Amino acid sequence: MKIQHTPTPTLVIEHAEAIPGYTYGTAEAAASPLTMEDLERLKAVVGLTEEDERALRDAAGILADQADDMVSAYRRRLGELPFMRPYSGHPDGTPNPEYGAASKPRFDRFIIDACTRPLDEDWLNYQQEIGLRHTRAKKNATDHADSLDHIPMRYLLAFTAEVIASARGYLAAKGASPEQVDRMHAAFTRSVMLHVTVWTRSYADAAEW
Ligand code: HEM
Repeated sequence: MKIQHTPTPTLVIEHAEAIPGYTYGTAEAAASPLTMEDLERLKAVVGLTEEDERALRDAAGILADQADDMVSAYRRRLGELPFMRPYSGHPDGTPNPEYGAASKPRFDRFIIDACTRPLDEDWLNYQQEIGLRHTRAKKNATDHADSLDHIPMRYLLAFTAEVIASARGYLAAKGASPEQVDRMHAAFTRSVMLHVTVWTRSYADAAEW
């Protein structure tokens, strides 16, 4: 299959305002403590190039209608681990379907945003917001959820392996050549690592980070 480069990510940016709690690009999102120079340096270290950004736009077209399945698979995976259940369920580990349903569209949306959003101030701010929503600062607040109030950083980092490794199958699911899949998977890896790295700023003070 020949993949057409998508010039603009319009396929996915529209209708974002319809997602409850999704405050990307608004004054309601947290203000990032990072500068654009911090971001440029991190991009350089994670190795994200313009070629990767083109590969990510191709990936967006392939993942757009699979994001819902991807996030469902992550959640199944986390649900298989009893000690992880209190973070997305109730504090005693019993299911909290309301919380799951309320937060899922934003998580689905992240898959596409990670492939399409320009890395600018709005991006920095919303990554700070997502980081905070995994910590005592803001977890549960958006959806008024009854759940543990903090996801330990070690689990956030460790689960990145699953998000990255499992992406390959979804990228390969629409007939792209192995070379194209490699290219998109490498770019997706760099993008996810960049996101999660920026989220960890919510867990550490500036000196530690
Ligand atoms: C690489 C790993 C992870 C990724 C990519 C990820 C991604 C996300 C995203 C994009 C959101 C929605 C943020 C928003 O727009 O409001 C979110 C929220 C959430 N994530 Fe994660 N997450 C990760 C790790 C984890 C882990 C390990 C757990 C443990 C159960 C978890 C549980 C949750 C919960 C419960 C929420 C809702 C937070 C709230 O109350 O607002 N996540 N995650």
